[in-house]
Amino acid sequence: MSETIHSTLEERRVFPPPADFAAKAHIGTRAEYEKLYRESIDHPEQFFGRIAEELHWFKKWDKVLDWQVPNAKWFVGGKTNVAYNCLDRQIDLGRGDKTAILWEGEPETAAGAGGEVRKITYKQLRDDVSKLANGLKSIGVKKGDRVTIYMPMVPEAAVAMLACARIGAAHSVIFGGFSSQAIADRVDDAQCTVIITADGGYRRGTVVPLKRNVDDALTKTDRVKKVVVLNRCNMPVADGVAPGSIAWKEGRDVWYHDLVGTQSADCPAEPMDSEDTLFVLYTSGSTGKPKGIQHTTAGYLLGTYLTTKYVFDMKPDDVYWCTADVGWITGHSYIVYGPLANGTTCLMYEGAPNHPDFGRFWSIIERHKVSVFYTAPTAIRAFMKAGKEFPQKHDLSSLRLLGTVGEPINPEAWMWYHTVIGHEKCPIVDTWWQTETGAIMITPLPGVTPTKPGTATLPFFGVDAAIVDRSGKELGPNEGGLLVIRKPWPSMLRSIFNDPERYAKTYWSDVPGYYFTGDGARRDNDGYFWIMGRVDDVINVSGHRLGTMEIESALVAHEAVAEAAVVGIPHEMKGQGIAAFVTLETGRRADEALKKDLIAWVRKQIGALATPDQIRFTESLPKTRSGKIMRRLLKEVASGNEVKGDVTTLEDFSVLAKLKEKDEG
Ligand code: WTA
Repeated sequence: MSETIHSTLEERRVFPPPADFAAKAHIGTRAEYEKLYRESIDHPEQFFGRIAEELHWFKKWDKVLDWQVPNAKWFVGGKTNVAYNCLDRQIDLGRGDKTAILWEGEPETAAGAGGEVRKITYKQLRDDVSKLANGLKSIGVKKGDRVTIYMPMVPEAAVAMLACARIGAAHSVIFGGFSSQAIADRVDDAQCTVIITADGGYRRGTVVPLKRNVDDALTKTDRVKKVVVLNRCNMPVADGVAPGSIAWKEGRDVWYHDLVGTQSADCPAEPMDSEDTLFVLYTSGSTGKPKGIQHTTAGYLLGTYLTTKYVFDMKPDDVYWCTADVGWITGHSYIVYGPLANGTTCLMYEGAPNHPDFGRFWSIIERHKVSVFYTAPTAIRAFMKAGKEFPQKHDLSSLRLLGTVGEPINPEAWMWYHTVIGHEKCPIVDTWWQTETGAIMITPLPGVTPTKPGTATLPFFGVDAAIVDRSGKELGPNEGGLLVIRKPWPSMLRSIFNDPERYAKTYWSDVPGYYFTGDGARRDNDGYFWIMGRVDDVINVSGHRLGTMEIESALVAHEAVAEAAVVGIPHEMKGQGIAAFVTLETGRRADEALKKDLIAWVRKQIGALATPDQIRFTESLPKTRSGKIMRRLLKEVASGNEVKGDVTTLEDFSVLAKLKEKDEG
């Protein structure tokens, strides 16, 4: 990470928006952005009240904002429905026959021909959503319940989310890469009684055994009464042990096609209170237990609607593609809710970027004439390494705008994206935000903001971002500090599910009165924000957030392990990698076999995304006098750096201190 930061500090290149892009953009002048931004900060109720008029309401709000640190209520007293806004409203606006979801499956129909394609119009999507919504009601799902969704990247994943939203049940989507233990933990925490899943999902040429993982998870919790199973891979029902088969539990399991088969396509959308929960989504934090980030209805809808419209400069004839998985916040906000609330044609791809080879994304862009493309730096780095001959085999001239999200983008990757993919004509929006923020927070506006490789540039409307020290004092240009948000914004998280105290403590206590992001950053002389990475015990592996404590908990649950300390280390492709220092129970042998065993164990406990890159056996872990593990030291060791600095102090905010040292040096 330090290398990335070092090179971004020296970045001098500036890329103004192309004039023809700016001329056609929703917002095309700096003066317009500044005027709107000022209004959004000085008069948020006026600004957001006006934007909210663009959405559908069953009942208008009484008050735009009710704010008392740390509890925000937006559009108090209003009644709306997110699925109604994403479907019925679009149909009312004349978009009924427009393609809403343009889906491509992973397995190719013939070499080089791409996968199966499905085009679902807004009208069809409303029918599909309504049928499933009625189906869910028929198995007892009610307004206010939570439903787990553990699905491959197929249109039915979006249908399931929207069906929950339509009847007022909150969804809890779990990324298909998570293990059965992670499913069980999340089902229990959110108290879900229904799971929607599939027999399997295609990924990199193999079948991910989703149903089997769910069955496994349900041996660890008895909360779930119904499992709805989509037939994606035609896996035969058998004992579930035979390769490629699934097991079936009569009375509990129901086929998706049977559930929707007999249902009516008419399901009125439930008028929801602005502050009713839309979904819970788990993410990692500084402690061992993942947090159920809770988002509500109206503010989240407004935030994703507004950012999609302006950040991606969404136009009626765009074909927009966000390559995230719906299991992450990016998929929630920028595959499902934001694009559909804008009536966009949204591409969804089932599989891996490198299947059958590194040309897959580029062939999809060519085949479907994608105009706006949103992906992650880790993917761009992988494509860079694979070579530009892959994109060069394809016609990418339909592209007009590119975006990135998930981690700091190193300038080399930014430049490659700009030249090889964007052919120097597409603005790049480097968007900074979080699961907690619900929507994009710091970003260029593509028709307005001159971009520099490696910075997310300026705050979006309503976002009062600042760099401060721990007392809340704002720091000057180029001083590294804590990234905070000083005012509430519509799509902010409202709580951690069932744990309002943890919510207040985690986000609002480090810098009293301000929302603390967990990120370190600095502003340059133009006021641009440069994100330096996490300053807490969270690491960012390929754009996926993992808590070091979460991985440590998994390791110490292994019978051979006495103690474990996990740190993030710089990784060329993944941004950060995972190094685990492990001390063993007496009598256990520190050998290669055990290393392999521990790696497999962590994958089983959390999922493949948490696979340690290094396991290092050690006789003891360096600790402070008060018993805290000195991760900073371990980080240096694992990264192969010389160990410097005071070894008797607590780690605490030393990440920042170190960055400063480097900066000055
Ligand atoms: C990091 C993903 C630099 C950051 C939407 C943040 C970024 C965490 C960027 C949130 C960016 C996200 N530049 N860093 N453009 N976008 N991050 O919750 O550390 O999965 O706190 O949300 O990713 O990750 P999350």
